Amino acid sequence: MADETTPLLQLDGITQVFRTRRGDVRAVDNVSLNLGVGEVLCLVGQSGSGKSTSAKIASGLLKPTDGEVRFEGASIFGRGRSHSATFKGFRRAVQYVHQDPYASLNPIQDVFTTLSAPLRRHRLVKSRAEARERVSELLAQVGLTPAETFLPKFPHQMSGGQRQRVAVARALTLEPRLIIADEATSMLDVSIRIGLLSMLTKLRKDLGVGFLFITHDLAMAKYFGREGDIAVMHQGRIVEYGPTLEVISNPQDAYTQALLEAVPEPDPDLAKRKREIRLGVRSSSHRGTPAA
Ligand SMILES: Nc1ncnc2c1ncn2[C@@H]1O[C@H](COP(=O)(O)OP(=O)(O)OP(=O)(O)O)[C@@H](O)[C@H]1O
Ligand SMILES: [Mg+2]
Repeated sequence: MADETTPLLQLDGITQVFRTRRGDVRAVDNVSLNLGVGEVLCLVGQSGSGKSTSAKIASGLLKPTDGEVRFEGASIFGRGRSHSATFKGFRRAVQYVHQDPYASLNPIQDVFTTLSAPLRRHRLVKSRAEARERVSELLAQVGLTPAETFLPKFPHQMSGGQRQRVAVARALTLEPRLIIADEATSMLDVSIRIGLLSMLTKLRKDLGVGFLFITHDLAMAKYFGREGDIAVMHQGRIVEYGPTLEVISNPQDAYTQALLEAVPEPDPDLAKRKREIRLGVRSSSHRGTPAA
């Protein structure tokens, strides 16, 4: 049974091998991660490093070749009848927000329909009036006010940032305990991105929702994940894992250092630190990668 010390999500020795015509692709190789209740974990790495594959496994969309996924202490890929109830609860408790809200929102559904359909399907509201009230509340939570302006809008009538906020509001309809955001802010320009990230941070704190935040951009991870952990992925493996600010201020792995060098740094102290790292003048303390 889960108690306060049980992690929300645990990936334990996850490996994913894809069989292709050109041979086997080891997309994820023995990855172990932990995320606590209401906490944030950023998974960073360049294109093809295995982030989305890990995210799909964490959200139950893909069964790994090897390893275990536990949600609130229970294995989600187990067998038997008791497991199918666990899996059902898990699928509701974990919501996935995609990179492109255009691909995840139905173009012929207005905002009210998009948000009220899951509420009705799961009998979380009893009447249209109640649905309207709850939908307005959800819109306020994602910063789309006044709600009346947004209720009748279709995806093409909104900006990219507004569409992504609707996608987040839809993820919130079933009161999830974990949101997996896979490059959810990558398509937005910087000012809108920051607004969305602040909104997600507020949701995390107000609602206690955990976040697995996936990005190729270390600057984004630093911004959104500063109160949590960061895991750096390279060629299917975790090469560095630890508290975000520690990893960023004192990266131990050459790949993390290379990623950091690609980030423009407005903070002169950190810019100096990065120069020192480049010149090899850095502390030799070792943080290492996590145990399984
Ligand atoms: N269904 C699949 N079949 C075969 N190979 C796959 C499949 N899905 C992913 N891969 C391969 O696995 C590796 C990891 O892919 P993944 O999508 O997890 O990377 P990513 O880190 O999310 O990249 P990006 O930043 O571009 O989204 C890549 O080499 C990819 O080509
Ligand atoms: Mg991806």
